Amino acid sequence: MSSQSSASLQKVRNKRDLSVFDVTTVDSLTAEDTNCILELAAYFQKHPQEAFDVLRGKTVITCFYENSTRTRSSFELAAKQLGATTVGITAASSSTKKGESVLDTALTLSALQASILIVRSAEAGTADFLAKHIPVSIVNAGDGWHEHPSQGLLDLKTMRDHHGTLKRKTITIVGDILHSRVFGSLVRLCKKEEMNIQLCCPETLLPKDYEQFGATYISTLKNALPKSDVVYALRVQEERGARGYVPNLGEYAKHYCITPERFDLAKKTAILMHAGPVIRDTDISSLLMDHERCHVLKQVENGLAVRKALLWLLADRSDQKKKPL
Ligand code: CP
Repeated sequence: MSSQSSASLQKVRNKRDLSVFDVTTVDSLTAEDTNCILELAAYFQKHPQEAFDVLRGKTVITCFYENSTRTRSSFELAAKQLGATTVGITAASSSTKKGESVLDTALTLSALQASILIVRSAEAGTADFLAKHIPVSIVNAGDGWHEHPSQGLLDLKTMRDHHGTLKRKTITIVGDILHSRVFGSLVRLCKKEEMNIQLCCPETLLPKDYEQFGATYISTLKNALPKSDVVYALRVQEERGARGYVPNLGEYAKHYCITPERFDLAKKTAILMHAGPVIRDTDISSLLMDHERCHVLKQVENGLAVRKALLWLLADRSDQKKKPL
């Protein structure tokens, strides 16, 4: 890294540190933490060709006990592009197949001097459990139906990049809300931003505790979409049994798929978002995927920058202070 690049990156950082050692829920992030992550992400994004080797000498390990395309590849690329050594563990390659506990696996990886473990698991609370027992920083890359904090942060960046301040902007979240960890982090961040939050789905896919997020339930897209600044479609998660909550996918799509006609009901400045993978013509019509205000691929692009910022800040935090257990 040239001394000029280093100086300009450090200038944006402005001596700020995260208040946390682990990111297992967006609830633990202060507004300053979130702003610092997003400001550094914007800088990384503006300088994609520059080699910022701020993680040189560090090891970042991804432990994906559930499949992933976006999250895993973007964390690995982020770590590599910042100069870290990366190792990837999956359910197929992990010793958990031989009966080792997830905790013992994590302790083993910690003994290999990893700086950060990025963990995806089908069980809610896994990342948080590990964070309480492992001296290494843990990032939750999705735990069951609970949360997906780095996805929430990249979603927040995507919304802020388009709309600026989000206070009193309306987001309509559509689809399989009940099973969605994407929803778990998104709704918490939207609440912190003081957005109007509308949920639109079959009643069977509505979490019972949705009112704690200050959200309003509207059962039809016709009534929910007008006044929306953000339309956020969630995937029907068949791997979590979502098919048992709707008559069939065709019937679901008839009422909740975001079609061009339905997207036209939203504000003319509204953006369409989805965390991916998108099930075309069930979650979002194929016809909308190339729409200029469909930000699905922008979300992916933002993910790389956000994850670079997150990894750098977490690695630095552990360098400065021992994580208390
Ligand atoms: N958005 C998301 O978590 O996608 P992957 O499952 O591909 O990581």
